[in-house]
Parts: sequence; structure tokens; C-alpha cells
Amino acid sequence: MKILVTGKNGQLGRSIQKFIPNYDHHEFTLVGREEFDLSSPESISKYFDINSHFDVIINCAAYTAVDRAEDEVNLADEINHLAVKKLAEFANSQNAKFIHISTDYVFDGQNESLYLESDNPNPINVYGKTKLLGEKAALKTMPNNAMIIRTSWIFSEFGNNFVKTMLKLGSEKNEINVVSDQIGSPTYASDLARAILHIISNANFNRKSFPTEIFYFSNIGETSWSDFAKEIFMLTNLNCKVTPISSEQYPTPAIRPKNTTLSKEKITNHFRLQIPLWQQSLKECLNEIM
Ligand SMILES: NC(=O)c1ccc[n+]([C@@H]2O[C@H](COP(=O)([O-])OP(=O)(O)OC[C@H]3O[C@@H](n4cnc5c(N)ncnc54)[C@H](OP(=O)(O)O)[C@@H]3O)[C@@H](O)[C@H]2O)c1
Repeated sequence: MKILVTGKNGQLGRSIQKFIPNYDHHEFTLVGREEFDLSSPESISKYFDINSHFDVIINCAAYTAVDRAEDEVNLADEINHLAVKKLAEFANSQNAKFIHISTDYVFDGQNESLYLESDNPNPINVYGKTKLLGEKAALKTMPNNAMIIRTSWIFSEFGNNFVKTMLKLGSEKNEINVVSDQIGSPTYASDLARAILHIISNANFNRKSFPTEIFYFSNIGETSWSDFAKEIFMLTNLNCKVTPISSEQYPTPAIRPKNTTLSKEKITNHFRLQIPLWQQSLKECLNEIM
């Protein structure tokens, strides 16, 4: 299969690149902002004028600066919503399948239990709103042959993320305050990358046609940011005390949802996936970083 992956320099894009050598029966093309600027409809059209006939398009690129999005509403909308519509239109016109990555931040976080794919979204920040508009555009443009994978709390050995921030703070300070009233499931980008590569080889994905659906993927288990930080320090023997604080004590431009733990039942059953516990994957990531 000819597979196009956007966002080649992001956490997920780089994690997919890591495993591509195991899938040399497919032909992968990875694009970054330079050759494929999602904030420019002309850039996307120009790319597809020259490069076409993909069998699968995997969109890992996104405007992910959650706080900055509160000020850069139009740019976030262009990349997370309008560009997704355009990508879905091109996928449709080429008969390509489309995998689009979305977020737990489409929810307000008021659920007391795991979120199911059937739950109604209600985003409370600009990033979540633009990502939801992108999902809706993909669903409308491609009622068939697309997949939306909502994920949460991505960490990896690449780029900037919570794990790398904690490693830095933990080596500089004796004590830090970390929010304890936001609960979610961390996702090791390598696990999501492996899952996506598994899915594109799965018979359910390779049917001639299938209805577009939403799936959830994160690691198994749930935690708060403060317990996540404690686990990082415990596994790396960093002597830094974590003091749990509330979201109100750590105000940010964008409000974060309180509980966004996602059920993984649908994706594991549909594609026969086995997903590791987040603590196990955190160890793997820390080994990669060290
Ligand atoms: N990170 C999380 O905690 C998290 C949680 C839930 C869902 N998600 C979703 O998961 C997906 C992957 O996230 P990630 O953590 O891998 O994100 P990431 O590390 O921030 O990577 C996003 C990539 O998108 C690219 N990008 C941004 N603006 C672009 C533009 N105008 N044109 C082309 N490319 C552009 C960035 O390019 P540059 O490298 O050039 O900046 C970057 O490589 C995204 O859809 C995100 O919304 C992420």
C-alpha cells in the first residue's frame, strides 16, 4: 500500500517512522510542515496535484498548543478543522482510506466513568472545539472508509511532553507542585504508532468499504498528573517531592477537562489489539530517553 503520513516531526509521526522498517512491504511517504503546510489550503492542493494515488492517509499533524490556541483561534481552526476537511476530500477523491487522530479534549471531563465512543462531546477549550470540528468534517466528507482515533496525554522520547518536562524539573528541583484533579490515561506514542500500523494490516481495515467510526486509544489504566509525575521520579530514582495541587491553584489560559479516561474496549475488540499498561510503557519510554 502507498501510505501518506502527515506530521512527520511530531511525537506520533516520529514514532511511526521508528517502526516503518518492520513494514517494508508498504511504501510510506512522510511529510512535514515544509512540504505540506496544513494552514495553507493551496499548499495541500499543490501537494496532491503532484503526489496522488495513496491508499491510506494518516493525519498525525495538528495544532497542539492547547493554551496558545485560546489566542490563535483561526490558525487552530485552519489546521485542526479546515485542513482535515481538505484531507478527507482528497482521500475520498483518490479512494484512499483516512486515519485521523483526535483528542480526549473533545469532552468536558464531567463523566464519572470511562468515556465510551457513544458519549456526546462538549469541548471546553478552543483546541478541543477545533479538533471536534475536524472530526465532524471528516465524518461528513467521508461517511465510509475513515477512522477517527481519539487519544490522550501523549508522551514519548520525541519533542516536548510531560515526561520530558518532569525529568528536567526533577533533576533541577527538590519539590514541585503538580495538578492532581485531572484524571486521564497516558498514551505512549510508540504504542499508538504500533497500533496504527497493526490496524492498517488488519482485515477489518482492508475491507473494500467500511463505515467511518470513532475509536479510542490510550494505554490501559488511569492516573492524575501528580501520580504520573511520582511514577516518573520513582522509575528514574529522582529525589523530587511531588505536592498535589488543584487545577484552580495552577491556572492556565485553556481550561482542561477533569476526567477524560477513555474506554479501549471497542478498538481492542475490533482490531484484536493488546494494549500495555501505562506504567509498563512509561518504563519503555524512559529506557529510550536514557
Ligand atoms: N500530545 C498530546 O498529549 C495529545 C493528546 C491527545 C490527542 N493528541 C493528538 O494526537 C495527534 C498527534 O499529536 P502529537 O503529540 O504527535 O503532536 P505534536 O508532537 O505536537 O506534533 C504535531 C505535528 O503537527 C505539525 N504541524 C503543526 N502545524 C502544522 C502545519 N501548519 N502544517 C503541517 N504540519 C503542522 C507539527 O509540525 P512542526 O514539527 O513543524 O511544528 C508537528 O510535527 C494530534 O492530532 C493531536 O491533536 C495529542
